[in-house]
Amino acid sequence: MKNKFIAGNWKMNKTVAETRQFIRELIPLVAGVKNRVALCVPYTDLAAAVEETKGTNIAVGAQNVHWAESGAFTGEISVAMLKEIGVEYVVIGHSERRQYFGETDETVLKRTLAALGGGLKPIVCVGETLAERESGKTRDVLARQISEGLKDVSAADIGNVVIAYEPVWAIGTGKTATNDEANEAIGFIRSLLAEKYGKDAADGVYIQYGGSMNEKNAEALLSMSEIDGGLIGGASLVPQKFEAIIKAK
Ligand code: PGA
Repeated sequence: MKNKFIAGNWKMNKTVAETRQFIRELIPLVAGVKNRVALCVPYTDLAAAVEETKGTNIAVGAQNVHWAESGAFTGEISVAMLKEIGVEYVVIGHSERRQYFGETDETVLKRTLAALGGGLKPIVCVGETLAERESGKTRDVLARQISEGLKDVSAADIGNVVIAYEPVWAIGTGKTATNDEANEAIGFIRSLLAEKYGKDAADGVYIQYGGSMNEKNAEALLSMSEIDGGLIGGASLVPQKFEAIIKAK
């Protein structure tokens, strides 16, 4: 069995000072754990997060990246800029970006290819809305997001892609998918990857669950056969809560 991969998605939270304090508290709490750990923090916190986590088992991720190498893209950040300061992961296609900032499967693909090309590991987010689930479209939506969003990702690169299944209706709402719903959706995503890349490659891809995962429900979700980890929003903002999720068996 793979170790789990627990990533925090801080969204638009924490200043540099707060970032340093959080990481100093977290380091001793999670030292020596086997699970993979990452914190995806706002751009302004990245350099401090990389500095504070140096030599520890905590990796650092950004929450978005542009696909162009450089140029007239006011407000955007490139892969090279992130790589230079020591960032390892980048969240791509989070539902908040799809909902509020015009992210599409096409831009998800462009960002993902750019990240992979520059040596950043993308955490690609997929998931259905409540209306889509209630009208029985969950599988169609996931199939579209995976086939379009990862369309040109090569077999050589798929092992560097992390996928986060985040049903939109479960994000920040306190409603989690049931363990079976999450496991079923992730199993379906893995079957799509297996069709395209083969079973071994698909089994090697980390597929996280995200959406109101917390210190109370993490153990049950993470013990499901298909769930390789979590992408944690609210509960990643408090060191002790994040620790509990990281250590959930
Ligand atoms: P949540 O957010 O844990 O606060 O629901 C998860 C996410 O959006 O990645």
